[in-house]
Amino acid sequence: MTWACGMLLAIAMLLLYTVLGCYGYNWDQLKLHPEHIPFFFNSNPEIKLLCNQTETCPYRWTLSTKKCWGYEENCTVLDRMKTPECDGDSHGWAADRASQLDMFWKQADFGYVNERLNEMKRLCTPNTQNDSSLECVRYTRFCRGKNIYFDFKEASFSQSRERFREDLFKAGQIGGHCTLDREALKAEGEHKSALQSWFAELEQFTPLPFHPIKDQHCDVIIDKPTYLMKLDAGVNLFHHFCDFINLYIAQHVNNSFSTDVNIIMWDTSSMPYRDFFEDTWRAFTDYSVKPLSSYDGKRVCIKEVVFTLLPRMRYGLYYNMPLIPGCSGSGMVRAFSQHLMHRLHISQEGPAKYSIRITLLSRKTKYRNILNQDELVSALKTVGEFEVKLVEYNLDMPFLEQMKISHNSDIFIGIHGAGLTHLLFQPDWAVVFEIYNCEDEHCYLDLARLRGIKYMTWEKKEKMVQEDEGHHPTLGAHSKFTNYAFDVSEFMRLMYKAADYVRTHPGFIKAWREKYETRKEETYMKEEL
Ligand SMILES: *[C@@H]1O[C@H](CO)[C@@H](O)[C@H](O)[C@H]1NC(C)=O
Ligand SMILES: *[C@@H]1O[C@H](CO)[C@@H](O)[C@H](O)[C@H]1NC(C)=O
Ligand SMILES: *[C@@H]1O[C@H](CO)[C@@H](O)[C@H](O)[C@H]1NC(C)=O
Ligand SMILES: *[C@@H]1O[C@H](CO)[C@@H](O)[C@H](O)[C@H]1NC(C)=O
Repeated sequence: MTWACGMLLAIAMLLLYTVLGCYGYNWDQLKLHPEHIPFFFNSNPEIKLLCNQTETCPYRWTLSTKKCWGYEENCTVLDRMKTPECDGDSHGWAADRASQLDMFWKQADFGYVNERLNEMKRLCTPNTQNDSSLECVRYTRFCRGKNIYFDFKEASFSQSRERFREDLFKAGQIGGHCTLDREALKAEGEHKSALQSWFAELEQFTPLPFHPIKDQHCDVIIDKPTYLMKLDAGVNLFHHFCDFINLYIAQHVNNSFSTDVNIIMWDTSSMPYRDFFEDTWRAFTDYSVKPLSSYDGKRVCIKEVVFTLLPRMRYGLYYNMPLIPGCSGSGMVRAFSQHLMHRLHISQEGPAKYSIRITLLSRKTKYRNILNQDELVSALKTVGEFEVKLVEYNLDMPFLEQMKISHNSDIFIGIHGAGLTHLLFQPDWAVVFEIYNCEDEHCYLDLARLRGIKYMTWEKKEKMVQEDEGHHPTLGAHSKFTNYAFDVSEFMRLMYKAADYVRTHPGFIKAWREKYETRKEETYMKEEL
């Protein structure tokens, strides 16, 4: 190393030290699940280095691990967080096991992030240090920008009843001070649709003759890093969690998990948005979600903005996703679940010492009720090993409390319906039992495969009674619009099978031992890694 080079390095280290170290880096602000720390460190080497240099860093035991999420450059398969399993038939989707695994990895696991990172392309290039910039993945399903200008002077959100207007901007009303590759932008328009891409918004992106912030063209300047999101239905758990999981994936694409960020809900109307699950936002931001309409009539400049992945992207997670058969266990979806539980302070109290914790989700709706629910619950209660809870998840029970019950359910039972999305919060060793899928076979089966837990459903149609043919408001007979009764002994046969699965799951056994056998507190996390 030459003298100059050594000096430079020393200066760089000193700078880093003053920026991060001088006042003591606040390790608590990471707020990451302990299991995620080494992964985060390896994709943030400067923070890892700081930990190495700080005696008080609480994560020093992770420094020697080489673990990586899976999308980082140089991340080998062996070092990945967790790899999915493909022990079933791919039904012709893939030629062999290796390509089956690879396909699942790219569709549904951290390979998905890797694919997006590989697509990232600069669309507007800065000419000087403090210029604007814009880069996007294919079809503008995710973008990030610097010093971006949004002119809402003519937006009149208050007059609008359309949540996703596609003509919000005219040329010059969205843009930045940078050199735009017009052809490249135009080539990304194929997925133009409200919840599939940001093309309707970015189509009019214009290279501006002025620097929006420095030349004082903004009524509002947003300094804090900001995520823009177009949301699916906030009243439905299945739909809304599609928003949250895509926000989490977007954070991986950007490699940043700070909660000191704004979230702006891109809704071009000022109609109220009902959000039954809003407690979940606390895992992502310290502030309340800002409606776009609060910027009505203003020119807004955002210094660091991310246009997040969308809930209904083609082949996106998880709404429009034909998932390759035969595989399960996405490390990314598991990480999402861990991240939420950690940030929302929902703890795992199990496994219980001598019992299997069973939750049966009751519905008080017109259709899809279990007619002999009481009979099933009584039968379960005759088994000493079963700890049974009958719950109704509604607005009277805070959402975090619902999540806590689900997180502490070894077996979760429910009939087809959005409530089954709670399977995302169950522990690794769990079973979700969709007692009847109402002929919608893939929805929760696929979600359980993503989460990597065991899915079960009713096996013998003759041992089930359908109340009547069903009454869809327009389509006539329909299996989702009626109620069902289930044969008790067949039900119990399936429940014993489910309990067996839980009891013999390596994750269950490990957690049980850690809890009830003399454990060495400090070493068990290390052994895991
Ligand atoms: C910390 O940094 C030193 C010097 O670069 C290195 O030798 C050591 O292996 C690092 N420690 C760990 C635990 O990675
Ligand atoms: C990846 O490995 C190559 C070759 O060993 C190396 O040059 C490169 O710096 C590595 N990249 C990262 C991000 O570590
Ligand atoms: C860019 O902005 C920073 C911080 O505002 C400032 O210190 C720097 O001088 C600017 N650089 C240029 C080239 O304008
Ligand atoms: C995205 O990542 C960059 C680089 O780490 C960071 O500066 C920025 O704040 C992040 N953006 C958001 C919205 O979190």
